[in-house]
Amino acid sequence: MSSETVKILMVCLGNICRSPTAEVAFRQEVANRELTHLFDIDSAGTGTWHIGEKPDVRARTTAAKRNMDLESLKARTVSPDDFHHFDYIFAMDTQNLNDLKAMEPVNAKANIELFLTWPDKENGQDGYQEVPDPFYSKEEDFELVLDLVEAASKDILDYIADTHQLT
Ligand code: 4NP
Repeated sequence: MSSETVKILMVCLGNICRSPTAEVAFRQEVANRELTHLFDIDSAGTGTWHIGEKPDVRARTTAAKRNMDLESLKARTVSPDDFHHFDYIFAMDTQNLNDLKAMEPVNAKANIELFLTWPDKENGQDGYQEVPDPFYSKEEDFELVLDLVEAASKDILDYIADTHQLT
């Protein structure tokens, strides 16, 4: 990837439900606007339980219904290098945000933000300030995750395309 790409990392706890869904939803929105060559998009987790695993089958099934493919993704943890490589690190919930801030190196490049409220959406996305953790929930909660991250991806891409003057 060129150093001129906008580099975005999505982060949740396990990197098997919310952040891989957000990664692919954001990538889809970027592709819809023919901006793929200008972005470097990835996801990671703060927890270690699922390293190397594919996204949760419920996340894969829900995404596939909207023609999004999560099959090739593999869970990994956030690394110290991520804070130097990425321009934006988006946390899915406040716990993720706090964990990221606790890990942040002193000379980090990344802006670390809450995905549903950045840059200035005080009321979040459809009233949600965090993407609810669906791991112990039912399949329909994965639909909500996808609804929220698709809508937030559109808004954030509008903002980034504007501020970075992407065409
Ligand atoms: P995620 O969901 O953070 O959206 O990937 C979870 C996945 C696994 C666990 C918790 C949340 N877990 O406790 O194993």
